[in-house]
Amino acid sequence: MVERAGVRVHHTAEVSPDAAIGPGTSIWNQAQVREDARIGAECVIGKNAYVDAGVVIGDRVKIQNNASIFHGVTVEDGVFIGPHVCFTNDRVPRAVNRDGSLKTDTDWEVSPILVRSGAALGANSTILPGVTIGRWSMVGAGSVVTGDVADHELVAGNPARRLGSACPCGQPLRDVDGEPFAGDCPACGTPFPP
Ligand SMILES: CC(C)(COP(=O)(O)OP(=O)(O)OC[C@H]1O[C@@H](n2cnc3c(N)ncnc32)[C@H](O)[C@@H]1OP(=O)(O)O)[C@@H](O)C(=O)NCCC(=O)NCCS
Repeated sequence: MVERAGVRVHHTAEVSPDAAIGPGTSIWNQAQVREDARIGAECVIGKNAYVDAGVVIGDRVKIQNNASIFHGVTVEDGVFIGPHVCFTNDRVPRAVNRDGSLKTDTDWEVSPILVRSGAALGANSTILPGVTIGRWSMVGAGSVVTGDVADHELVAGNPARRLGSACPCGQPLRDVDGEPFAGDCPACGTPFPP
């Protein structure tokens, strides 16, 4: 790891000189951070992760190995992005035009994705374009998120459906009689919703 201005970058990582990285952030083996990406302080960018041009990432975000974060994604503070998570950005992608000629970057129609602070995305989940993932929500492993996820909501599956709520400590909280859980979290004792 090479440390410069409080940023630790593994010697095999590829970080654009036009990316802005906050102090205390570590970027591991073979990760790539493209031009104009903005990454906050104290983040961990795992092995082989990809942060596309212009992506904005807050402070204390953990991005696990092989996650792909494409253009148009904004990630707020304290978000967990599990291994192999894939953000998509064009709802109806094509490689070529009707005449068979290759499409260029300007043909790409990006629908932005916003991941609010404290949210956690399980391993191998796929996030479709245009979605907002709420504060402290949790997405189960392998989910395909096709629509917005509410603050504190726990979703899983393909398509991702509500399983209940998630405490900020991580504890899943089942709905009671069809209503979101309200009371002290059985794991941490903190009142929910906060
Ligand atoms: C979503 C999650 C938090 C749910 O935990 P939980 O509430 O303890 O879930 P349970 O095991 O009690 O399962 C509840 C139901 O949801 C289903 N379920 C749980 N996780 C699921 C998932 N990822 N996808 C689809 N269904 C899931 C279970 O099959 C079960 O269904 P059933 O009631 O029909 O039997 C957890 O399963 C998960 O996926 N965590 C993410 C792990 C991860 O990716 N970590 C990354 C770091 S390595």
